[in-house]
Amino acid sequence: MCFSIGQALNMSLTLKPYSESYLLDTEMILGFIVSKTREYLRAHEDENLTEIQINQFKRMLCKRKQGMPVAYIVGKRCFWDFELKVNESVLIPRPETELLVEFALKSIRSLNGAERIADLGTGSGAIAIALARENPKCSVHAVDISSDALEIARTNARNLGVSNIIFHEGSWCDGLPDLNFDLIVANPPYISDSDSHLNEKSLLYEPRLALAAKNLGYSELNSIIQNSRKFLKKDSWLLLEHGYNQQKYLIKELSRFGYSDILGLKDYADIDRMVAARWEAIDS
Ligand SMILES: C[S@@+](CC[C@H](N)C(=O)[O-])C[C@H]1O[C@@H](n2cnc3c(N)ncnc32)[C@H](O)[C@@H]1O
Repeated sequence: MCFSIGQALNMSLTLKPYSESYLLDTEMILGFIVSKTREYLRAHEDENLTEIQINQFKRMLCKRKQGMPVAYIVGKRCFWDFELKVNESVLIPRPETELLVEFALKSIRSLNGAERIADLGTGSGAIAIALARENPKCSVHAVDISSDALEIARTNARNLGVSNIIFHEGSWCDGLPDLNFDLIVANPPYISDSDSHLNEKSLLYEPRLALAAKNLGYSELNSIIQNSRKFLKKDSWLLLEHGYNQQKYLIKELSRFGYSDILGLKDYADIDRMVAARWEAIDS
């Protein structure tokens, strides 16, 4: 049976009722199967697929119709300037988290460099790997409570040739060694565990441990704000990603716990997304 790249691309229409990005999704799946770029696919629509490729394409399209995110279907996702392996034990890294990396790099420059950084809740290793690659002389300590996530993060670091990350299994600051850090970053779970958005099809595939938190989504953010203090050097930075409606409260909490120079930042969609604060005190 002959089945061309063009015919496969036309099958994107069958995905239309299930995904707003049906064409892009189809191109990404097909591009993955034939190991070619989207531009190549468009320029070679007459090229025929092998039977194995056709079957793989149909299976993957079916998974997409069931709601599985493309990143899990193809097992990878781009972040910053590299590609990460992902599976259902890690959150799919989001573009807005690149803002956290950008601000982290700015903070490191303001300190004239950093010796030691912590990434709490590293997941796929996205933030830790970006910071480690940009600061090769710095030690990055990456913590996660999930051993499956850490396995993916370690694989990603190895695949990218990054050797300045030390991985720790544990809960937030309890997972850190007894050291002081120039910067602590975290993108913890912050969706309220009673929020109905957690039942949306796409989120159902991502680990609940990476998404949901108790106390209206504040429990993990609060724990990090309180406990990071004893791991921060004088004048160092804490950066936290958070939910769209959490910034005001977090700014108050950071101030209550003695942080200074507190900033609230928005993401590319102009939504409150991140807080940054300095730890000036000598004794915590
Ligand atoms: C929102 S995901 C962030 C993943 C990654 N840093 C990113 O930005 O793509 C939160 C991560 O926190 C981890 N996590 C949840 N509870 C934790 C805890 N108590 N201690 C450490 N990590 C935890 C989850 O396993 C998950 O990998």
